[in-house]
Amino acid sequence: MIIQKNNGKVVNPATTMKNKFKMVAKTMVSLEEVLADELRAMGAENVTVGTRAVEFEGDMRLLYRANYSCRTALAILKPFAEFEANDDQQLYDQVFRIPWEKILEVDATFMIDSTTSGEIFTHSYYAALKTKDAIVDRFRRHFGKRPSIDTENPDYKLNLHIRDNQVTLLLNSSGDSLHKRGYRQGVGIAPINEVLAAGLLKLAGWKCDTHFYDPMCGSGTMLIEAAMMANCIPAQYYRDNRFAFMRWKEFNLGEWKSVKQEEDRKIGSIDFECEIWGNDIDEQVIAQCERNLEFTKLHKDVMLHIGSFEDQDPPEGPTLIVTNPPYGERIKVEDLNAMYGRLGDTFKQRYGKDCDVWLITSDFEAMKHIGLRPSAKIPVQNGALDCRFLHFELYEGSKKAKYQQNAE
Ligand SMILES: C[S@@+](CC[C@H](N)C(=O)[O-])C[C@H]1O[C@@H](n2cnc3c(N)ncnc32)[C@H](O)[C@@H]1O
Repeated sequence: MIIQKNNGKVVNPATTMKNKFKMVAKTMVSLEEVLADELRAMGAENVTVGTRAVEFEGDMRLLYRANYSCRTALAILKPFAEFEANDDQQLYDQVFRIPWEKILEVDATFMIDSTTSGEIFTHSYYAALKTKDAIVDRFRRHFGKRPSIDTENPDYKLNLHIRDNQVTLLLNSSGDSLHKRGYRQGVGIAPINEVLAAGLLKLAGWKCDTHFYDPMCGSGTMLIEAAMMANCIPAQYYRDNRFAFMRWKEFNLGEWKSVKQEEDRKIGSIDFECEIWGNDIDEQVIAQCERNLEFTKLHKDVMLHIGSFEDQDPPEGPTLIVTNPPYGERIKVEDLNAMYGRLGDTFKQRYGKDCDVWLITSDFEAMKHIGLRPSAKIPVQNGALDCRFLHFELYEGSKKAKYQQNAE
């Protein structure tokens, strides 16, 4: 697509990079390296890790593939204009100059997400408003009518990014956030974000070569993400096939179908001979988990138990345990510290040397009551909550975490 302003020149990235262009994949705190690895495995070039984002280059096929199969991306954005602006008027003028009619249809709807930093543009909302004014004024001037704003379900999601006087405009190719996988039929009170769940499995270094067990599985997000990885099911396999790029003028249905077919052909391509187990004390939430598993047709791959974590042994043999216990925020527990203490005792007494244990929590006080020293504490974000992903090496010589760079 379209126009990039480079050192004052307007260029078409397609001609400068042989149909390859720059993209930005957005993700969560501490998942950047994991996402960069996923993108490299898909053939992304010039991969650069940023803050909650990864920049890379590739063609439209890679844009389709990244949307369909990346487990740890929230959105794939395509930059299409870069320029300098030193005040509101310059921002307006530069945006007005962009040939928007080549990007949006006049009867389409759009919205602008904005982030600003630096001293020139201190209100991201205001910068977005100026940008919107310039777009609609250009349409009015040339066509006598303008596209409308829709913040709920727009045809085009634009991203305005300003750092000091450097402005980048990007098109969101994903539409709805990629954490919305489409498999949730029911949830408990505090389900974990799907992208975070997949990211935690990857941070824990799961290679689908051991059993997996979540002793407090709730509605089963961790179990489903694990089962999808074990079966090589693309991350968006259950989504209703709606991505923002499908509304773009340059959308190529044939290429999209061919990428999707290639990815779908990988399903079942590894011999996963291990077991995936889930356990929860709440019968109703286990019923939701069953519904989700049946919807994904992964119910035969996952074994569920109802009961307290202390009463359930993990599977026999090498097992990765990743769990998301209550933090006392949404799920109230009478004595959270005591519960974390019992959890630590269970790890020590019931989980053998074959177990590799990880836990995510936002309760830093309760965390101390586990009574085990974590060998890694990776900062992660679960919704608005600042969390830590803790690794417990129960025995000397147990597995080391691969992505330790952010660990405290
Ligand atoms: C934060 S939720 C887990 C959410 C889950 N990751 C999901 O995506 O749906 C914590 C879960 O721990 C369960 N739980 C609380 N106490 C428990 C116990 N003693 N044994 C097993 N599960 C327990 C709750 O029922 C709840 O489903």
